[in-house]
Amino acid sequence: MPESPIRKLVPYAENAKKNGIEIFHLNIGQPDIKTPKVALDAIKNNTIEVLAYSRSEGSEQYRQKIADYYANNSIDVSADEIIVTTGGSEALLFVMGSITDPGDEIIIPEPFYANYNGFSTASGINIVPVVSKIEENFALPPIEEFEKLISSKTKAILICNPGNPTGYLYSKDEIQKLAKIVKEHDLFLIADEVYREFVYDNAKHYSVLNNFGLENHAIIIDSVSKRYSMCGARIGCLVSKNKEVINTVLKFAQARLSPPTFAQIASEAALETPQSYFDEVIVEYEERRDTLIAELQKIEGVKVAMPKGAFYCVAELPVDNADKFAQWILEDFNLNNQSVMVAPAAGFYSTKGFGTNQIRIAYLH
Ligand SMILES: Cc1ncc(COP(=O)(O)O)c(C=O)c1O
Repeated sequence: MPESPIRKLVPYAENAKKNGIEIFHLNIGQPDIKTPKVALDAIKNNTIEVLAYSRSEGSEQYRQKIADYYANNSIDVSADEIIVTTGGSEALLFVMGSITDPGDEIIIPEPFYANYNGFSTASGINIVPVVSKIEENFALPPIEEFEKLISSKTKAILICNPGNPTGYLYSKDEIQKLAKIVKEHDLFLIADEVYREFVYDNAKHYSVLNNFGLENHAIIIDSVSKRYSMCGARIGCLVSKNKEVINTVLKFAQARLSPPTFAQIASEAALETPQSYFDEVIVEYEERRDTLIAELQKIEGVKVAMPKGAFYCVAELPVDNADKFAQWILEDFNLNNQSVMVAPAAGFYSTKGFGTNQIRIAYLH
């Protein structure tokens, strides 16, 4: 099981803090934005007397409201096409377990969310990477590159949209290209859309379940963690119009009994969050992105891709080894007793030797 590149430097950060250095945690996707009050109040004001299991697929009432949320995003799904999970993390694990046999393959543009490595290891499957390039802002690699890698073991293409760690937002045209190839080869298109709301410059997010004719192929991974700054709730979901997928995922859900009951109550209430909350959050993130990118661009030798969504960027540094650099800025460097923790990017690649001079920065402070 690979270690998390996002968390592995924690002991160095803790040491620096003991030595009186203030560390800004730009390594982790933990938003500092306040959780909506409606969600917290739903817990505070609750008079529940028995904290029971919920249904394995999540409470009926909550799934119904999630379906309404999707309808507002032009995604036509019913409550029985949704399975509530313990974070998007569990949804990823369930989907890999459900659509693959050990030894099967999933094609993923890299760099990708590092824990896909851990989930695929746990599922006994192999990630086959397609390289996306910093010089191209990490746009979708040419579709022929995917085509070359498809074998009898390939079960799915997995994208993260908008991307962690790249911040890249796939265009309608790019999703159309992916839709065509998965239909031709009868594969699943798994889209991790946990950052759906966080898109900038008035761009539009295209979901794989927005009218691309992917009813049998598309699987959405979703989460309340980032959307409502509720990472500790541990609630996500998996969405598919393919009945076989839902029936299989349900078996995994039954084996772990139920998603957390209290957190579902909070997540259901969070759906009442007004659009003004997101409008404000997006302005805040957009300003931070602009500051971060403008300052990075001023540093000689630094290359950075302009993120269009999520709250991360990948920067290429004039260093040989970003792992050592990230450790050094925690152990031996400070400016007025302050320093930063970043995530070395090699762990976001599965091709050995890639990303060794890159870091991921989360603009969350
Ligand atoms: C792309 C992506 N997918 C899934 C997750 C999992 O989040 P959670 O399990 O908190 O829903 C994360 C968390 O950082 C993420 O960045």
